[in-house]
Amino acid sequence: MNTRRFTMMPGPRPLPLLGNSWRFALRQKPWVTFSLDKTLWYLKNLAGSCGAAKVAKLFGHPDLVFPFCADETARIYRREDTMPHRAVAPCLKHYKQVLKKEFFGEEPGLIGVHGMAWSKFRSKVSKALAAPEAARAVVPTLHYVAEDFICRMENILDENRELPKDFLTELYKWALESVGAWALGTRLGCLQDNDTEAQDIIRSIHGFFHSVPELELSAPLWRLYPTTAYKTYVNALDSFRSLCLKRLTDKGICAHIAQSHGRKVATILALDLLLVGVDTTAAAAASTIYLLARNERVQKRLQEELDANLITDKEMTCKDLDQLPYLRACIKEALRIKPVILGNGRCIQSDAIISGYEVPKGSHIVFPHYILSNDERYFPSPQEYVPERWVREDFDRINGYTEEFNYGMKRESLHNAEDMKSDYCRAKSIWQKQKEVGIHPFASLPFGFGRRMCIGKRFAEAELQLLLAKMFHKYSVRWRYGELTYSVTPTYIPNEPLQFTLLRR
Ligand code: HEM
Repeated sequence: MNTRRFTMMPGPRPLPLLGNSWRFALRQKPWVTFSLDKTLWYLKNLAGSCGAAKVAKLFGHPDLVFPFCADETARIYRREDTMPHRAVAPCLKHYKQVLKKEFFGEEPGLIGVHGMAWSKFRSKVSKALAAPEAARAVVPTLHYVAEDFICRMENILDENRELPKDFLTELYKWALESVGAWALGTRLGCLQDNDTEAQDIIRSIHGFFHSVPELELSAPLWRLYPTTAYKTYVNALDSFRSLCLKRLTDKGICAHIAQSHGRKVATILALDLLLVGVDTTAAAAASTIYLLARNERVQKRLQEELDANLITDKEMTCKDLDQLPYLRACIKEALRIKPVILGNGRCIQSDAIISGYEVPKGSHIVFPHYILSNDERYFPSPQEYVPERWVREDFDRINGYTEEFNYGMKRESLHNAEDMKSDYCRAKSIWQKQKEVGIHPFASLPFGFGRRMCIGKRFAEAELQLLLAKMFHKYSVRWRYGELTYSVTPTYIPNEPLQFTLLRR
């Protein structure tokens, strides 16, 4: 195959001395850190259907290469070595390795760390965290967190049974309470009204995440002097660190680690889990609730599954969760359309040919999962929320329909049987097209891939399943507003207030 030189790969032209960072600094469209989804679509157009594009010469970053092809993604991920290098978070690296070097020392944790230091740490904690039993064991605890959150939702509804404008913050509290219960083995009290410590943690989390895009992508002025974003970031990390030191108990997953590897490793792990385990699940929950609220057909089908398998007020177990394949498909489909993390990265450790270009060692490959999982080539009618794509069974079987089925009769609560029938037929035709193209295993990877993939995946899935099962079992959820828009902060979250209406079933 003829290969092309790296310089020929399409991408915005860097200016002498200023590189490409000035684009983000000036917020010139599409170079806006909060709208990286648009930046990715722009790069895809530059790259062509199966090609790649690059953004070279961003201050403090290696050249970024974006391959827009699932086969290429598979090839690169599969050849990654034993210590995959995910080049992110120079600011976090600075915090762990310079600012608080005395504390972290030889144990920098998992996030913002590479090479042997990462590999050693991951092997210490991997079994305890990523094993299926670890997530299964936490289900009863998460059940009570979800139950408390459902009570809280009932209390914060207004007279029209609408959730408040800051419901996303409530989801952050639920996610933090859940991670605290799992990692630290304690209830942090985030779901109570007057817990000031919990409110401070939530504030820190907001501050932390809102400063990340500015620190990581704009001109890195924080390297010259402590900018406001930098101070917010460091203060937030300091308060997470003291929270972990103070609230680590003799229960929870980190206590388990403390027994085998000492309290310090356990505290550093707890810090990393809190850093990445809160905004991610909160964003995933927000998008899944939104997509379900907008899709009456899917919501009804989910509720049938929940009604058939759950008993109200009984403690849910992992066996109950095993009975809910449609719920799992609803979450997968939501993470396909609105992945929490738009792209995942690997810094290549040797020269490589990517999409026909000679890419030099040290370049940072960004897999734009958001684009691939919303690409018509891999997912027909990508914007349509059709969880059946992910279920092996036949569409009619999943939905319990027969040839003679009278749509209006079975779904009698639906005001418009004709609309329902047309929704059903449209979804079925998308499912058929999906069956024809199949699902490319590298076209939707919301949790990453390989040795560095999300260590909290199973926990996050259990946490989401419990909340959504309880919520949609108890309520019909409605969305009375227009389409949500999204920002990258750096998780992909809705901009508008999440005022869902909850109707008791
Ligand atoms: C829906 C929720 C979540 C999503 C979509 C998500 C996604 C991701 C992704 C894409 C990565 C990078 C993987 C790679 O490089 O291949 C990652 C890494 C990671 N995630 Fe998650 N995550 C979620 C929830 C969580 C939770 C709840 C925790 C812990 C409580 C967690 C802990 C971590 C950690 C520690 C890493 C770094 C792993 C390493 O570098 O060794 N995540 N996550």
